[in-house]
Amino acid sequence: MTQERLASSAHATGPLAGRVIVLGITGSIAAYKAAGLASTLTQMGAEVHVILTEAATRFVTPLTFQALTHRPVHTDLWAPDPATGVPHIELAERAEVLVVAPATAATIARLAQGLAEDFLTCVALATQAPLVVAPAMDGGMFEHPATQANLAVLRSRGALVVEPEVGHLASGLTGRGRLAAEERIIAAIRQVLGRRGPLAGVRVVVTAGGTREPIDPVRFIGNRSSGKMGYALAEAARDRGAEVTLITAPTALPAPEGVHVVQVERAREMQRAVIEACANADVLLMAAAVADYRPAEEAPQKIKKTGQELTIRLVENPDILKELPRGRLKVKAGFAAESEDLLANAARKLEAKDLDLIVANDITAPDSGFGTDTNTVTLLFRDGRQVPLPNLPKREVAERILDAVQELLQR
Ligand code: PMT
Repeated sequence: MTQERLASSAHATGPLAGRVIVLGITGSIAAYKAAGLASTLTQMGAEVHVILTEAATRFVTPLTFQALTHRPVHTDLWAPDPATGVPHIELAERAEVLVVAPATAATIARLAQGLAEDFLTCVALATQAPLVVAPAMDGGMFEHPATQANLAVLRSRGALVVEPEVGHLASGLTGRGRLAAEERIIAAIRQVLGRRGPLAGVRVVVTAGGTREPIDPVRFIGNRSSGKMGYALAEAARDRGAEVTLITAPTALPAPEGVHVVQVERAREMQRAVIEACANADVLLMAAAVADYRPAEEAPQKIKKTGQELTIRLVENPDILKELPRGRLKVKAGFAAESEDLLANAARKLEAKDLDLIVANDITAPDSGFGTDTNTVTLLFRDGRQVPLPNLPKREVAERILDAVQELLQR
């Protein structure tokens, strides 16, 4: 079989392609997980420069990271540099983000105090780039007031701390101290790189998931929305610098980092949350599948089987989008999930709900609509323009929708 250089950064596209990421790895057993992180970032097209502290070299070798990133690895502040002479300053200037993962209690303390003791801490002091810190250590060390105070100092200077996870620790104990999952660290990197992005200063409200309308304490009327489309929108808006509130009905998805999440269940709860969040927002993106009807009565106890037919009377829910006053919203966008007459029905909803943009979602198309990872949509604008998009991953669809939102914000 022929090998191809598909994963090389020269071929990669996407939000991290070409971005200069300095990855500092410190002396935690979780240092081995940083190999996976360095590899993924490199495959995403980032220019990854690895620094190992002296303690880190006791767990992992420079050769591992040199092979994964195709670049020399920095370990020694005093190593003579044949080219120019001050590599830590050059790297500090080139860095677009400094990521310390895993970050030990000792390195966090050094960073908080501004010590310049080795290659990593010198780069950290010299750089203007934002800092992402992913702690990994014993649970007691992490919870210690000294570590928490040091993290608070870093946060107060703008660092983004990717909280460690609870679970099995190398000591055999269970506690909070496991290095955050790779996806969470990458999400944090994307978030800080987007801080000065095109939506910086813009407040965006996104709704996601399918509302649940209770029949009794155990049953509800729901729908097949997984929340994937709404969550993709929230993450994409965050990565463009927006301040995002995600109002979500129950889903199986993890809460996105760096997004204000409001959990709701019923349509009327979602309506209250949308009204409150939109009082102060610029953009509303209503991707949730809201139940149009709810049971007129919610039985206080579990309904028992009687051997007879059961009739549940339904009453109409409020139409959240339609009833929402425009207030200070500059862009009000909805989705239309349709199984027939897609564009005509979507255009009617755009008009009836006073929208600037509606995303017409063909739920009969393969790999599109509810629960899928991809979507096939057409963007319909108030001025009559229609922009059909090919079948794309939901994150890509979200990027195209945000391109349209940015265009509308510039009107
Ligand atoms: O969550 P996923 O599995 O990723 O699936 C994504 C999705 C298919 C749910 C999403 O892309 C989508 O199409 N969401 C809207 C589904 C829908 O309820 O469409 P609708 O045509 O019934 O409603 C039109 C618009 O009015 C929507 O923006 C909806 O949020 C809003 N609405 C609907 C009813 C209601 N009572 N209040 C509302 O505000």
